[in-house]
Amino acid sequence: MDNKNTGIDIAGLQEKYVLKTYSFSPPIIFVKGAGAYLKDSTGKRYLDFSSGISVCNLGHCHPAVTAAIRRQAGKLVHVSNLFMNSRQPELAWKLVSHCFDGAAFFCNSGAEANEGLIKFARKWGNPTGRNEIIVMKESFHGRTLATLAATGRSKYREGFQPDMPGFVHVLFNDFEAAASAVGPRTAAIMLEPVQGEGGVIPADKAYLEKIRKLCDEKGILLLFDEVQCGMGRTGSFFAWQSYGVGPDGLSLAKALGNGFPIGAFILKRKFENVLVPGTHASTFGGTALACAAACAVIDAIDRENILLNCSEQSVYLMRKLGELAGKYTAIRSIRGRGLMIGLVLDVPASEIRKVASENGLLVLTAGDNVLRLLPPLTISVKETDKAIKILDKCFKKVKGS
Ligand SMILES: Cc1ncc(COP(=O)(O)O)c(C=O)c1O
Repeated sequence: MDNKNTGIDIAGLQEKYVLKTYSFSPPIIFVKGAGAYLKDSTGKRYLDFSSGISVCNLGHCHPAVTAAIRRQAGKLVHVSNLFMNSRQPELAWKLVSHCFDGAAFFCNSGAEANEGLIKFARKWGNPTGRNEIIVMKESFHGRTLATLAATGRSKYREGFQPDMPGFVHVLFNDFEAAASAVGPRTAAIMLEPVQGEGGVIPADKAYLEKIRKLCDEKGILLLFDEVQCGMGRTGSFFAWQSYGVGPDGLSLAKALGNGFPIGAFILKRKFENVLVPGTHASTFGGTALACAAACAVIDAIDRENILLNCSEQSVYLMRKLGELAGKYTAIRSIRGRGLMIGLVLDVPASEIRKVASENGLLVLTAGDNVLRLLPPLTISVKETDKAIKILDKCFKKVKGS
């Protein structure tokens, strides 16, 4: 497949020179993005209900974020964390003002943010012999060795043993399972308030409340992985805010830079001295450029009432999906929060995903046969109507619907 502009055989280069850790089905080459739309190398347009897996929450190439990146790239890109840069403290302040009083550490990805949280929990707990973390069987926390060990789904760990020790896996949304796993070596409980890769599974409110109480009673930490469900995805800035149950520390990444790589973890003020100078670092963490992008993202979320649009469009999309479920028995149930939505299917979710893509709609799969919808939080009624029309066509076409 030639790139029209350059004549370069991109698919050929990919096949020969890029390690095959990803499988492309179908093999689309994207060349341009604007808002909820993407354009491929043949000129075909796609409505993107995947947002780069909850990364481009403001839509592709949001003008204010692009402008901020351009401006900052002409001024200062990187100086190393041996010095302060003019944008990192500003971003930390903006984030903390949307969260709880505390302090942030900046890195580059979700896995790195979770690694930081795990290191924090061990550093905090080790003096009292606590260095184990209770995690969830259906969770996903990343692909580094510590975050793989924390990840519940064993398929991701296959071939990479030995697993890093220090993690105890229990069933999600099962309070008794967590409570009975707490022991003298437990430092923390870590979970995603809304599980993404596991199949778009929101925590029950009562479960989270009881887990918070348990952590307080036992004197252990509660850590939230908001890498996928944070940054407005569920209708509040962080997912925990809609539950009214706050953690002691949380990780975020993905949508923080709307596509520009940046991750972070935030700790409550009382834990700000656990990680002292020399205990944790990241060369590229929190560069002026990445922080300028993330500052522009947060400003846009506030200025453009993104959280309100997310909540309103969620109600509309859920209603439309409900109508679809009334029409097709293949849709067993619909779940999620805000614009993080999962359709539990009786037909292969991967098949619906493929047909949707052929018809110009990008969606995702997750967990056990769940079709995952993660539209940009800027989505409009018109765009949702278009997506529903395409999904209708897909369910009509896929056998057994
Ligand atoms: C909840 C959650 N945590 C962590 C990660 C890992 O993030 P990254 O791929 O940026 O390392 C992901 C990625 O999908 C995720 O969904």
